[in-house]
Amino acid sequence: MRILAVETSCDETAAAVVEDGVRVLSNVIATSKDAFARMGGVIPEEAARRQIECMTPVLEQALRGASVQPNDLDALAVTKGPGLLGSLLVGTTTMRVLAAVWRKPLIGVHHTQGHLDSVWLETEADSAPQFPVLALSASGGHTELRLRRSHTDGTLLGATRDDAAGEAFDKGASLLGLPYPGGPSIARAAEDGKMHAFEFPLPLKGEDTLDFSFSGLKTALKYTLRDMGERSVINDQQKANLAASYQHAICLHLRDRIEHALAQHPGIREVHIVGGVSANRHLRSLLQELCDRRGKSLRAPKRLQYCTDNAAMIGSAAFFLWKEKEAHAFEAFTTSATIS
Ligand code: KG4
Ligand code: ZN
Repeated sequence: MRILAVETSCDETAAAVVEDGVRVLSNVIATSKDAFARMGGVIPEEAARRQIECMTPVLEQALRGASVQPNDLDALAVTKGPGLLGSLLVGTTTMRVLAAVWRKPLIGVHHTQGHLDSVWLETEADSAPQFPVLALSASGGHTELRLRRSHTDGTLLGATRDDAAGEAFDKGASLLGLPYPGGPSIARAAEDGKMHAFEFPLPLKGEDTLDFSFSGLKTALKYTLRDMGERSVINDQQKANLAASYQHAICLHLRDRIEHALAQHPGIREVHIVGGVSANRHLRSLLQELCDRRGKSLRAPKRLQYCTDNAAMIGSAAFFLWKEKEAHAFEAFTTSATIS
């Protein structure tokens, strides 16, 4: 089954052609990250304006890159939410029109469902992930831990009570005077730093919950900086040490909750990490060590471009939705900024 998928939930305009949920025939993305880095964050109306301009060329490039014509497609898919409403509407309106003109079924995909299925991209049948899976999805907008029994059946075990993990990176970077998005810039600064130079508290320590909380870490970083006499007087080595220690604290909290979840659900076969934060190398190595110790396999998306927002993951999720729910996958949907 060949699906043309579009994702426009934040500042990116992305389109991809994906076959049977795993083979990526093309994956195109236009982002305004550099422009928004200069502005210090995403300006929603500006993002939507840029997406209107990018949508047609990105779609054309995705079709050309996959060497397919509209006639070769079996279905269309698009992110229906959550995200920035203006941005989502650019994608969903475009795909609703194309579905009507090309007479193709349209599948509305939840953004997080896309991240969760990004792990399947470029896998072979004999090495496909095995349920039940413990999945951590951590991005700029959410941090959730799920027990997945299939692509469409799962239980939410825990979620953040305040900031998302990616948001903790973004806000921490802003405090340290590092550019947006904060995850990659903190990771880069941390390479020259010592992760034990500063001790940050482990959030929700000892609490019997699978929830997360990151706002205390951000506040701890703020007070540490204040006590050091603010940003202007700290040198590069201190900044690198702060970045490394702060990154380590975020990753330790994520590992701590995963360890707790594995103890509660011994039947889990694999641990998956998805979303922008899953690109973090320090997190991957901490979790690899945990999974080795527990005899579980750890999987993250095969490429870094599948960790952050992309359309290939939407094409994958749409396929598995269709595989498990058949015609229900094609039901009408509402575009929503706050879909649950
Ligand atoms: O999934 P994503 O592209 O967009 C959302 O759905 O939010 O995630 C973006 C988030 C940002 O907060 C960014 O700082 C974070 O993922 N991120 C990272 C890394 N790359 C991106 N966080 C930690 N380490 C990274 N290497
Ligand atoms: Zn995302």
